[in-house]
Amino acid sequence: MAMITIDRTRCKKDGVCAAECPFSLISLTGEDGFPEIRPAAARLCIQCGHCVAVCPQDALSLATMKTADFLPIGNGSPPTIKKTGQLLTSRRSIRSYQQQTIPQAHIEQLLEVCRWAPSAKNAQPVHWLVLETPEAVQQLAGLTVDWLRTGTAYPGIVTAWDQGKDMVLRNAPHLLVAHAHQDSLKPEIDCTIALTYFDLAAHSCGIGTCWAGILMSAVAAGYQPLLDALALPEGHQLYGAMIFGYPRFPYFKIPARKEARIIWRS
Ligand SMILES: Cc1cc2nc3c(=O)[nH]c(=O)nc-3n(C[C@H](O)[C@H](O)[C@H](O)COP(=O)(O)O)c2cc1C
Repeated sequence: MAMITIDRTRCKKDGVCAAECPFSLISLTGEDGFPEIRPAAARLCIQCGHCVAVCPQDALSLATMKTADFLPIGNGSPPTIKKTGQLLTSRRSIRSYQQQTIPQAHIEQLLEVCRWAPSAKNAQPVHWLVLETPEAVQQLAGLTVDWLRTGTAYPGIVTAWDQGKDMVLRNAPHLLVAHAHQDSLKPEIDCTIALTYFDLAAHSCGIGTCWAGILMSAVAAGYQPLLDALALPEGHQLYGAMIFGYPRFPYFKIPARKEARIIWRS
């Protein structure tokens, strides 16, 4: 079966699909100047679906992707820069959480939109591990503190833990781990972007997040009890982790940040 099918009654030979294909796998060199796909596409096509999604005539279909899986953009207008700016600048790292857990369906709704995060060569390597209870999060916080005890970094965090205060995972009700197979193309970058999507999607519905940097350091250091507890699939590594839950306190102001440092060149 051909990889790409052109509906000749619709195609206007406008070349949009050819222009947008990331690897220039489409050209208007087919019979009567219709688009055709190069044989190399079998090897090089990254299944991004752009050729179908960008066609103004809806004239293309791909053998590898169901037409019904292409969702309409809707009215086509992204939020204004003012609205997007409000979302981005009002997001904070949240360190005090309500103990109330978030229903699985709601978490799933957030992870659903993360599927559209960009990934190197559209490999979509990101997998998720969701800790659904404060007890499960606490176990990993305790193991991270055990790792801290083996070194000299953050003695205050160890002392705080011994006094009943969790400065590692902040008594959060949930932890989200982004993991991927270690042989993926750019797993660390792809997981970081996907977590950032999650971060912003969560904030848009009143859920707070904070990167779990110390746990990530313990994992990067190869602390075995923590790796055992995480029990990621064979060949997978953790490339990022975030605590999340309903914030205990609202924020009233957006704190100042460094000016954008830009080199303009022409
Ligand atoms: C990679 C990374 C690791 C982080 N690790 C931690 C952490 O372990 N604990 C923590 O409280 N905050 C952590 N943070 C949150 C930063 O401290 C926070 O983003 C920064 O202070 C700016 O605050 P804001 O996110 O509210 O704008 C981390 C952030 C990043 C990006």
